[in-house]
Amino acid sequence: MAKSRDLLDMILSSPRETDSFGQTIGTVLRGGDVLALVGELGAGKTALVRGIVAGLGGSASAVTSPTFMLMHEYQGRLPLIHLDLYRLQRASEAEAIGLTACFSDETVTAIEWADRFPDLLPADRLDVQLIHRTRTTRMARLEARGAGARSLLLRISRACHAGSRRARPTQLGTRARRKVSER
Ligand SMILES: Nc1ncnc2c1ncn2[C@@H]1O[C@H](COP(=O)(O)OP(=O)(O)OP(=O)(O)O)[C@@H](O)[C@H]1O
Ligand SMILES: [Mg+2]
Repeated sequence: MAKSRDLLDMILSSPRETDSFGQTIGTVLRGGDVLALVGELGAGKTALVRGIVAGLGGSASAVTSPTFMLMHEYQGRLPLIHLDLYRLQRASEAEAIGLTACFSDETVTAIEWADRFPDLLPADRLDVQLIHRTRTTRMARLEARGAGARSLLLRISRACHAGSRRARPTQLGTRARRKVSER
């Protein structure tokens, strides 16, 4: 079990809450941040990225699942590169589309199916696991891997606590978190 400062669990009770949480993340992202999105088909990875793009001030309606495109770039306060590794078979293919070249201090990168090629991911990244709970509820588990990601996680956590007029997703307490991790 990761230390709590490295871990944040959120219950997202509707697509709207996922969007809202994505927007919160988008407002606190900095250049160089990398989000490694993991979760089964329909878990909400693209839905979260849509919120993130909105939070960055970009055009969220343009965000589609890049499953067939592999890569999109969205403009906002920072450029966001959105990748989907689902259809790739080999690490060499991921390298060929320029995966490692995507990581730069001037951009934010969000990678769906990031667990396909973990060795190609930067060591300092925020792992975002999306888990089906019910038809309309998801759990997001954010785990910081590295100092930059830990700083990002702290900013996200603070932004969630600071609240806003938007509907806020529920952050799980320590006890609830332990229960979830025991499943
Ligand atoms: N709480 C929720 N958060 C996000 N999506 C939800 C939620 N509840 C239901 N959904 C539905 O789940 C689906 C999520 O689709 P999305 O394309 O974001 O998944 P994905 O993880 O990107 O899948 P894929 O692996 O195919 O790319 C949407 O149809 C959305 O309406
Ligand atoms: Mg998707």
